[in-house]
Amino acid sequence: MAVEILANKKVLIVGATGGIGSEATRLIKNGQANVFITGRNEKKLKEIAHANEIPDSQAFILDVTDARAVEALAAKIHEKIGQLDILINAAGIGYLNPLEKTDAEDFMELIDVNLKGAFLLMRHFLPPMKEAKKGLVINIPGVLGKAPMAGAAAYAASKYGLNGMVKSIREELKRTEVRITNLYLGGVDSSFWDRIDMRVNRDKFINAKEAGRAVWFLCQQPASGVVSEMVIQPFNHQAI
Ligand SMILES: NC(=O)c1ccc[n+]([C@@H]2O[C@H](COP(=O)([O-])OP(=O)(O)OC[C@H]3O[C@@H](n4cnc5c(N)ncnc54)[C@H](OP(=O)(O)O)[C@@H]3O)[C@@H](O)[C@H]2O)c1
Repeated sequence: MAVEILANKKVLIVGATGGIGSEATRLIKNGQANVFITGRNEKKLKEIAHANEIPDSQAFILDVTDARAVEALAAKIHEKIGQLDILINAAGIGYLNPLEKTDAEDFMELIDVNLKGAFLLMRHFLPPMKEAKKGLVINIPGVLGKAPMAGAAAYAASKYGLNGMVKSIREELKRTEVRITNLYLGGVDSSFWDRIDMRVNRDKFINAKEAGRAVWFLCQQPASGVVSEMVIQPFNHQAI
């Protein structure tokens, strides 16, 4: 059943080199989808492509903050296969620090990657879906996209922004069957935390494989309804 739903679906996974994105890539490719992937790290991207038998011609280096690069990739993919069936945005960066330690540069980097990046992806991949009146977009705002936490001012700004942006875009999709799902994850044990200077117990986090499986699960949902959001949190830290 699951295999049938994904078979031949045209799926782009942005941030396929990450903990969540790489697992989602593996499962979705196993479902016989026509998978396109992106990452910034060329070595990791090649490894993921080869491990999943994704041709090099469907694996792209992409910095989501680069408006021209996102536009060019969208044009290339649309020319090759038409509109996507599923766009998964699993790219993003983390940062947690008290306000007095957060510089304007840190703030802007989060806004650039987590918010502008998501905007650019939807700006360039959604219009053909809208025209075809069908498709699915999955973003991962995380629980800090709708719950506050000390030290998360900059990160939450980027993710609450994503949440508000998605809700507004949904209003523009009302006469279509284009669905947007927000996945609100609590802490996931991935390299996301390597650059965060905060003592956390990663053993108690959600496993990255399970988070990737949640993305895959969302791709299976029938088009007659919309899963507008899904929330998964570690047992010991339920913020919402
Ligand atoms: N881990 C968590 O606790 C958690 C919780 C809630 C929500 N999330 C969200 O889930 C998403 C995936 O996180 P993860 O845990 O899988 O993190 P991860 O393992 O660190 O992966 C992050 C991914 O984003 C890509 N990336 C970073 N900056 C980019 C840029 N400027 N342009 C293009 N790609 C970029 C990375 O590419 P390269 O590796 O190739 O550089 C990598 O593929 C993020 O949006 C994150 O905010 C994570």
